[in-house]
Amino acid sequence: MSIVFMDYRISCAKCGRRQPETAFRCASCGSILEVSYRGRGKLLRQDRGKPISRYLDFLPIGNLYVELGEGGTPLKRISSGEFKDIGLFLKLETGNPTMTFKDRGSAVEISKAVELKMRAVCCASTGNMGLSVAHYARQAGMRCTIFISKDANAKKIEKIRRQGARIVEVKGDFNKALNEAEAFARKTGAFLCGDYHFRKEGQKTLGFEVVEQSGKEMPDYVFMPVGNATLFSGVYKGLTEFKKAGLVEQIPRLVAVQSEKCDPLVSAWLKKKKLSYVRPRTEADAIAVGYPTFGFEGIEAIRKSKGDAVAVAEKEIEDAVMGLERFGVYAELGGGTGFAGFLKYYRENPAKLKGKRVVVVVTGNNEGVFREQ
Ligand code: F0G
Repeated sequence: MSIVFMDYRISCAKCGRRQPETAFRCASCGSILEVSYRGRGKLLRQDRGKPISRYLDFLPIGNLYVELGEGGTPLKRISSGEFKDIGLFLKLETGNPTMTFKDRGSAVEISKAVELKMRAVCCASTGNMGLSVAHYARQAGMRCTIFISKDANAKKIEKIRRQGARIVEVKGDFNKALNEAEAFARKTGAFLCGDYHFRKEGQKTLGFEVVEQSGKEMPDYVFMPVGNATLFSGVYKGLTEFKKAGLVEQIPRLVAVQSEKCDPLVSAWLKKKKLSYVRPRTEADAIAVGYPTFGFEGIEAIRKSKGDAVAVAEKEIEDAVMGLERFGVYAELGGGTGFAGFLKYYRENPAKLKGKRVVVVVTGNNEGVFREQ
């Protein structure tokens, strides 16, 4: 079966102007960009072997040049008396090469950097994305610079350094690091990785897998933790593309979860207000993002999927992470925040979830544990 390449376009999410492959924001209005496909997005490539390549027809690249074992993660059924009136499944992203779902996006981004013959990449991160990008860049033989708050998780910073990346410790939070990374990319021409349109295309493959793993038993709800809302809005985008291609009938309700100590998206949704910056104070360092890059798209994804949003207390996140351990599932705080949101939602809205199938995404476990790379 032949594939036609380049039949996608990159355009501004706000003003719609077409953008070049190397752009990361609209040259005219500064907004983030999006990828759309024409005459494509029909094939699940059974012949490709590796999990993400299977979705190549839905990705804005000619090939996945750097695939390091990401994706193809389990959807684990939880049979426990506590949840007997629902069908509960955990999508376990902790098994990815750097232990978070970020590797899906990094495979796409670094493959794009290979395609564009880039020699250097950079990225702002709260920690996990930085490690993932550093890992993939190293395998591709590219120089890598990671911008990270000097208050970020020290163990994560150290791990990124061990991947050979240059670290720029930023005085300020994630959003400050983001501005610095963008300025660095403009100045040096390094390929900017991070929560932008190419990564979003990679993250959406998580949604594709949930569809395929669920078969006829599609979930009614999917709970996900939110930082920049790239995963959340990406999964929604992927599901709509699958729907267009006739690969799924109905899109589940997507529920966004944040900590009460860093809840810009959840509070914008619940108070029906415009997104505004909040100073992150959560211990769930992975999702300490005060102003989500894909916040607008995240809110649209809640609205269009008839989903919801929930903020959880720090203690509820800790309890949820410990609760997961009973099922043999290990997560860092940010990785278990979706489960914390599910537990609260289930407690407060038992009638809504009764008899429903629920998927909770456990996004990562890059904390404290040292693993040989
Ligand atoms: N879970 C984990 C473990 C994360 O590391 C992140 C984001 C999220 C959930 C939220 O995903 O940003 O797509 O809404 N981490 C980013 C980072 C911000 O730099 O590692 P999102």
